[in-house]
Amino acid sequence: MDKIQQMTLSRKASTSESGTTSTDSKCQQCGGTGWIRHREDGKEYFSECECRKKQIEESRLRFANIPVTFKDMRLKNFNIAAYKDEKSKATIRAACKYIKQYMSCFESEHKDGMGLYLYSDTKGSGKTRMAASIANELVDMGYQVKFSLSTEIIQEIKRTWDRDNDLSESKLLDQLQETDILVIDDFGTEQVAGWINDKFYQIINNRYVDHRVTIFTSNYPLEKLEYDDRITNRMKEVSYLIAFPEESVREKIAAEKNEAMLHRVAGR
Ligand SMILES: Nc1ncnc2c1ncn2[C@@H]1O[C@H](COP(=O)(O)OP(=O)(O)OP(=O)(O)O)[C@@H](O)[C@H]1O
Ligand SMILES: [Mg+2]
Ligand SMILES: [Zn+2]
Repeated sequence: MDKIQQMTLSRKASTSESGTTSTDSKCQQCGGTGWIRHREDGKEYFSECECRKKQIEESRLRFANIPVTFKDMRLKNFNIAAYKDEKSKATIRAACKYIKQYMSCFESEHKDGMGLYLYSDTKGSGKTRMAASIANELVDMGYQVKFSLSTEIIQEIKRTWDRDNDLSESKLLDQLQETDILVIDDFGTEQVAGWINDKFYQIINNRYVDHRVTIFTSNYPLEKLEYDDRITNRMKEVSYLIAFPEESVREKIAAEKNEAMLHRVAGR
């Protein structure tokens, strides 16, 4: 009965203001309702149309807000060969092994609210790329994921203080607390003012209490974060700590680009 109601609703939604329905852009399979009607043994039932599945998938991706540069990144195409030093190769191999293990029993980690803390002192070592790859995998698996830079979270909270903003601070905090899986990228680079401490405490503590998975990337080991230890203590309890190589792939890529440019110039 639910499905039939939804069908009626989406039919209404697709009716234009003049009352006519345009058939041009509608799915040929379901007529734009998202459901396909079947009849078997005199009974009528509905199955979900591919176009509806695709729409849900697209809205899940929009919500996830994973950086577009990393949209095709998955664990299996994470490139270990990008690191030059032997020590870095060993570190990234260990990190990948750990993360694959974590992902292979994600259902139970999810139940326990166990997340990850990816860190390296060195900038450009691949932490965000890895966090985005994990986020993509989780979206593929059907989980609700939200990817946010920690500075973006702070900016968003500040924006809710504007009078004309429809989104209230408490609603935004609720969203961040209730999102099934939250990725907080670059945690700890922000200047930790008192109110920022309080807001992150609220987000992290509520997620901790509700066993919700949070994945962090940071340029600091957990114990060196400037946040209160009431925050870091909770994070420690529900995060697997994963060291990333102290090598910048970003610098290596930039150097290679410069070299290629020099070659092109010299070749002229
Ligand atoms: N394993 C890899 N293979 C190919 N490119 C990589 C790899 N790791 C990182 N890169 C590239 O290097 C750049 C920096 O990576 P990324 O942003 O993930 O680093 P980061 O550790 O998050 O840096 P920061 O500490 O500044 O936040 C990106 O362009 C990324 O695509
Ligand atoms: Mg990063
Ligand atoms: Zn359809």
